[in-house]
Amino acid sequence: MRADAPIGVFDSGVGGLTVAREIMRQIPNEKIIYFGDTARVPYGSKSKETVTRFSKQIVRFLQTFGVKTIVVACNTASAYALDALEAECDIPVIGVVKPGAKTAAEVTRNGRIGVIATDATIGSQIYTKYIKELNREVTIYGKACPLFVPLVEEGLLEDPVTDEIARRYLAELIDIDIDTLILGCTHYPLIRSTLARIMGEQVTLVNPAYETAYELKEMLAERKLLNEEEHKLGTNQYQFYVSDGAEKFKRFANSIIKYGILSAKTINIEEY
Ligand code: DGL
Repeated sequence: MRADAPIGVFDSGVGGLTVAREIMRQIPNEKIIYFGDTARVPYGSKSKETVTRFSKQIVRFLQTFGVKTIVVACNTASAYALDALEAECDIPVIGVVKPGAKTAAEVTRNGRIGVIATDATIGSQIYTKYIKELNREVTIYGKACPLFVPLVEEGLLEDPVTDEIARRYLAELIDIDIDTLILGCTHYPLIRSTLARIMGEQVTLVNPAYETAYELKEMLAERKLLNEEEHKLGTNQYQFYVSDGAEKFKRFANSIIKYGILSAKTINIEEY
């Protein structure tokens, strides 16, 4: 495997851009091929079988670019499909759940951790499992917030509707006095300021994107796969593919990633 090969990153839609953005910041020489499954979003209300089938198709698509590793920039796909993807791939596959769980276990002071995520991620109990492996003493409170994904996909990042829904979802976590809140869906960091305002400054918000990018960097360094070559202008360092609505995706990506004009192409993922 060559160090200058790209990294494959995928999500059900725009949420994984929060992880891609963090990879761009922490390891700026890396090339990224991003896939957002915008035609089939949301994953959070689908079955394990369906999410696993979608994830396998995407990994096959990303492998056509000769990627050196895959980042599953989606908590739902990490919860449901990571094991199946690891079993099928001969390159490393990194999910977002473990890194976020590790940070939460480290930062909590009162041992009361909240997790907000999709129905699928909460139902899988994956955060509880990983956090308990690190610290048996903590209590984890999960809360599914299924309306956040469509709100983010619609670009309602700062909006009274988002505010109202967030207040309703978060009320019970405020009542039980958590001191740490994991943003257990890669879409949620995009409404971080709303969540932070409602939870109050005594609650630490954990964004697994940061830790995931850090773990990726460590793993690549260990395997001598970090790209040392500086990126040359005009060589398509970041490429974006979606299963529908490339123009809308492109506008969104350009609003949150400030690395010049990013373009996106639509592909038929069912062919993979
Ligand atoms: N961004 C995703 C996650 O981290 C999935 C959202 C969805 O498609 O439901 O879980």
